[in-house]
Amino acid sequence: MGLVLMLGLIMTLYLASFAPLSYGYDPLDPTGNITIKWDIIQGDVGNYVAKVSLFNYQLFRHVEPPGWRLSWTWEGDEVIWNMVGAEATLQGNCSRLKGNLPHSCEKKPVIVDLLPGTPYNMQVANCCKGGVLSSMIQDPSKYGASFQMSVGVGSTSDTETKSPYPIPANFTIELPGYTCGPPLKVPPSRFTSDGGRRWTQAVGTWNVTCIYSQIRASLTPKCCVSLSAFYNATIVPCPTCSCHCQGLPGASCTNSSSKLPPLLQLPHDATEEAPPLVSCTQHMCPIKVHWHVKQSYREYWRVKITITNFNFAKNYSQWSLVMQHPNLGSLTEVFSFNYKPLNQHGPINDTGMFWGIQFYNDMLLQSGDGGNVQTEILLNKDAGMFTFREGWAFPRKISFDGNECVMPSPEDYPRLPNSANTTFRFTLLIIPCLLILMFLL
Ligand SMILES: *[C@@H]1O[C@H](CO)[C@@H](O)[C@H](O)[C@H]1NC(C)=O
Ligand SMILES: *[C@@H]1O[C@H](CO)[C@@H](O)[C@H](O)[C@H]1NC(C)=O
Ligand SMILES: *[C@@H]1O[C@H](CO)[C@@H](O)[C@H](O)[C@H]1NC(C)=O
Ligand SMILES: *[C@@H]1O[C@H](CO)[C@@H](O)[C@H](O)[C@H]1NC(C)=O
Ligand SMILES: *[C@@H]1O[C@H](CO)[C@@H](O)[C@H](O)[C@H]1NC(C)=O
Ligand SMILES: *[C@@H]1O[C@H](CO)[C@@H](O)[C@H](O)[C@H]1NC(C)=O
Ligand SMILES: *[C@@H]1O[C@H](CO)[C@@H](O)[C@H](O)[C@H]1NC(C)=O
Ligand SMILES: *[C@@H]1O[C@H](CO)[C@@H](O)[C@H](O)[C@H]1NC(C)=O
Ligand SMILES: *[C@@H]1O[C@H](CO)[C@@H](O)[C@H](O)[C@H]1NC(C)=O
Repeated sequence: MGLVLMLGLIMTLYLASFAPLSYGYDPLDPTGNITIKWDIIQGDVGNYVAKVSLFNYQLFRHVEPPGWRLSWTWEGDEVIWNMVGAEATLQGNCSRLKGNLPHSCEKKPVIVDLLPGTPYNMQVANCCKGGVLSSMIQDPSKYGASFQMSVGVGSTSDTETKSPYPIPANFTIELPGYTCGPPLKVPPSRFTSDGGRRWTQAVGTWNVTCIYSQIRASLTPKCCVSLSAFYNATIVPCPTCSCHCQGLPGASCTNSSSKLPPLLQLPHDATEEAPPLVSCTQHMCPIKVHWHVKQSYREYWRVKITITNFNFAKNYSQWSLVMQHPNLGSLTEVFSFNYKPLNQHGPINDTGMFWGIQFYNDMLLQSGDGGNVQTEILLNKDAGMFTFREGWAFPRKISFDGNECVMPSPEDYPRLPNSANTTFRFTLLIIPCLLILMFLL
């Protein structure tokens, strides 16, 4: 009985430590979502004009190239007569219509953003960013995108039974890990004109909310952490097989960029993230974050953080790093990254986000000599809290581009000399239990 209870307890602890991943709920960004707003801005018999906008309401997760691809399923035989600020990838079968052909007759159109520099007559306000959306913290002016289209509802006999502006169903944004809910009717959007002296409003507005889940995006981690400290010569590497095991099926890697397979030339399938082509390492992760406790002063201590790209197939633009450490509340100086504390007034006050400085290190280049970015940070030693003992100086959690990184296990952390009696006895006890349990299951 006692054993069953204990196993139950261990199981619960084990599951609880993974809960944030499986539920798609991020405690650091609990309301994070991408919202699609569908505004009917002009309606007539048989057709209407809709303004569709996407907003990335996520604190630290952004939408990278090749960007969003918005898709939906029309209820009836609607067609898109024309579109500005974006385009449908396929025109489809328009043979049932005579005269001028519509922009798209697809039942399930896929809409892609236009590229920056699109001719003015094809633009609309806030458009044409190549599908890229910044996170809210990184660039509040670039987290939204809009396009406008005129829709032909068709003149079928059941016009009376249909709503005049039927809203399509089954929205997707074709980004790995995101799922979208059903459209919800919300109070109509209001638009200002004449320099703010007049307000107009949409005929009708619907919202679709899309939520990210790391487990849906990828079953394998994308990043790992290694640690070192000035007081110990050991560099604790990323755990072996953090992301894949070298030599196992599905884990291809290469030793030099000159021997890249033709994989790189494949057109990008946006529903699944391009498989990283990583350099052969014992961790096999595309990204490694190294935390080095560099120096100790009387009142401050200094940490050097290095992010290394092991992926030959990708430059990480607009990357972000979220870190959790109990001393981050006393961060004094950050040398070559941007920094913003997260959740300042929430229950967690030890977390912050780092990201690159524009035109300097906001692009983490592909694996190779230039494939790393680094910074040093200076932290105030909080009286009553600060210590170099028991791995306190190392981060509790790190995520890169919103994906959690694999950490070394605490009993491997670099130790202060002569502190052999400060081992993590509890951890030493529980890890074998978990391992046994995992083998049993
Ligand atoms: C989406 O994010 C916005 C902005 O943070 C928030 O106001 C809204 O409640 C969120 N929606 C959902 C369904 O979580
Ligand atoms: C195109 O649509 C018409 C009528 O809607 C249909 O008769 C025809 O078979 C379709 N053509 C193709 C290639 O699907
Ligand atoms: C939307 O998707 C669901 C489930 O895949 C399906 O049952 C439904 O028919 C779809 N709706 C439309 C309008 O295609
Ligand atoms: C609908 O989306 C708009 C724009 O994204 C947002 O301002 C509004 O709060 C949303 N409404 C609801 C009820 O989620
Ligand atoms: C990469 O180099 C290591 C050690 O030199 C070797 O064991 C491994 O087989 C090489 N892998 C590939 C894919 O060439
Ligand atoms: C990354 O950027 C560099 C410099 O801009 C470019 O030469 C390289 O082709 C890019 N690599 C990838 C995989 O896009
Ligand atoms: C979080 O830290 C900031 C400054 O580091 C402090 O001003 C704030 O009161 C703290 N909030 C909580 C809830 O402890
Ligand atoms: C450095 O840390 C490692 C890993 O915890 C430990 O095994 C080693 O004894 C430490 N070295 C010294 C000189 O204390
Ligand atoms: C080792 O443990 C003893 C008592 O448990 C304590 O007094 C001593 O300070 C510890 N030594 C170190 C280096 O932590």
